[in-house]
Amino acid sequence: MSQLSGPRPFRLLVVDDMEAMRLALEDSLRFQGYEVVSAASGEEALEFLRSQRFDLLLTDQAMPGLSGIELAEATARIHPDVPIVLLTGNTDVELAKASLQRGASDFVTKPVNIRELPIVIERNLTRRKLEVARLKEREAQVLFEAIKALASAVDAKDPYTARHSMRVTRLSMLLADAMGLSSDEKYFLELSAWMHDVGKIGVPDHILIKPSRLTPEEFEIMKIHPVKGGEIVGQIEELTRVADVIRHHHERLDGRGYPDGLRGEAIPLLSRVIFIADTFEAMTTDRSYRRGLTREHAFAELRDNAGSQFEPELVELFVSKIESLQDA
Ligand SMILES: [Fe+2]
Repeated sequence: MSQLSGPRPFRLLVVDDMEAMRLALEDSLRFQGYEVVSAASGEEALEFLRSQRFDLLLTDQAMPGLSGIELAEATARIHPDVPIVLLTGNTDVELAKASLQRGASDFVTKPVNIRELPIVIERNLTRRKLEVARLKEREAQVLFEAIKALASAVDAKDPYTARHSMRVTRLSMLLADAMGLSSDEKYFLELSAWMHDVGKIGVPDHILIKPSRLTPEEFEIMKIHPVKGGEIVGQIEELTRVADVIRHHHERLDGRGYPDGLRGEAIPLLSRVIFIADTFEAMTTDRSYRRGLTREHAFAELRDNAGSQFEPELVELFVSKIESLQDA
């Protein structure tokens, strides 16, 4: 029931060989709203740690058998992400400091002030959460680099579209600025714009780099690239939303786009953004069979097709943003 009414309570493992102390800790921590499992020895605690998940380990140092530090060391090996708080005797401060090097995250000297214990616990839970968040950020960065590399590899198949993904990303971000999108939305947009054409990896080279206009049959094959791109990216669970944006980056406002013929608001907003940036980039870049349009000519094209292909408000924001950069 509590699952429905609020966040899951934190789960603590409390270890102390002295029964009175163990029960006192258990009682007071339960009273504070934690879920508590207790063990009477380091060995028993290790058994629990091998089979269950805990958010934090709170252990006495001086115990017969496995000591608190030894338990901390073993725990850090099994669950490097679980913070460990050590309870030490008053005279063990040096030992307690050494324990920090051996896997413990914090220590509390005895006699324990039971009312202050939750503060120590919260501090360690928060610190761990921040560390995990930082780690995730780094992982995201690595993912991003990999995505850029993949996008560049696809771009490189055609000398005429080299750096296309990078330029479309830049233009999309300019429009995002003009729209006042949140940083979260911008992050999704950046990923999506970088990858919008990765599906071209599934389009045969003779079509992809054909030095003249595509025949209707060839164009039909070219049209699978948003679907392919969505499938490739959709394999990464964290990127399902990005996959959706990619799938729809050739949908037109009037429903005559592809692959699903979505219309208006049904098209993801970020797809509508990329569609404008993508079209502008393609129009203004030289191709083997034609020269690129001037910016002014491309603006006129976007405006002519506002309402049918593109969202009119977005076109206006885009044009004024690019113009303001030219003036600068
Ligand atoms: Fe595309």
